[in-house]
Amino acid sequence: MSQPQDTNQAPSHRLVMQATGVTKRYGQVTALDGVDFELRAGEIMAVIGDNGAGKSSLIKCLSGATVPDEGQIQLDGQTVHFKTPIDARRMGIETVYQDLAVAPAMSISENLFLGRELRRPGVLGSVFRMLDKKAMLEQSIARMNDLKVGIRSMNQAVETLSGGQRQCVAVARAAAFAEHVVILDEPTAALGVKEGNMVLELIRRVRDKGLPVILISHNMPHVFEIADRIHVARLGKRAAILNPKKISMSDTVAVMTGALAPENLPADCLA
Ligand SMILES: Nc1ncnc2c1ncn2[C@@H]1O[C@H](COP(=O)(O)OP(=O)(O)O)[C@@H](O)[C@H]1O
Ligand SMILES: [Mg+2]
Repeated sequence: MSQPQDTNQAPSHRLVMQATGVTKRYGQVTALDGVDFELRAGEIMAVIGDNGAGKSSLIKCLSGATVPDEGQIQLDGQTVHFKTPIDARRMGIETVYQDLAVAPAMSISENLFLGRELRRPGVLGSVFRMLDKKAMLEQSIARMNDLKVGIRSMNQAVETLSGGQRQCVAVARAAAFAEHVVILDEPTAALGVKEGNMVLELIRRVRDKGLPVILISHNMPHVFEIADRIHVARLGKRAAILNPKKISMSDTVAVMTGALAPENLPADCLA
């Protein structure tokens, strides 16, 4: 079951999540070919790669949406076997998928508790399944304040929010319920500059509150702005882990496309 962790690791280098040799095939296509992945405590790990590199397949394995054919995944040093996203959620891993599973006509508060509504105490909740709207509203306000998401009323419908605010609601919901890891798939993809920055700020606050974040993104400036490390996916494998403080954006893209071999990089560019 559990593998002993390297006790010489610096506390900040503690591995929260680790995947080793993960392989996933779809018929003749090998989407993941023995890929390794690691996420340390307190970091934002960006995942980048060309189309078809295996980013989504990797994230699906880590979030329980897909069961890998081979390899293992460890959470806090314990091997886990996720069969569904619910298994991963129970273990404290929350994922915001690209197509944002928010209910537009429902309020922000209702959206935050979607799928895990609080019931009224006693028989009203247990027998009549009555929702505790007051408690949900109070907790929503507390959680959004905690993450400094500036939204005037938790009672307003999500459809009245801008794209950036909606994305912030989705990220805040994940952060509010995640105990271990937040996974974000292209959270700034459809947003303008100002709104994108608002979401980046929120992601930073999530990390600074102690939750490590896996961030899938195509947006190199965003990746370079907030990632602590960059996992480069290429042809179903991990090509390299890069240090955005040392490597240039153009060299990063070159590693991603295969134009530059990571072995040819200065050692400090690798993380
Ligand atoms: N459900 C699926 N059925 C068949 N092939 C798939 C499926 N999902 C992904 N693939 C294939 O696996 C490879 C990796 O895909 P994916 O993980 O989505 O890459 P990325 O997210 O980096 O674009 C691609 O060749 C893709 O066509
Ligand atoms: Mg994808």
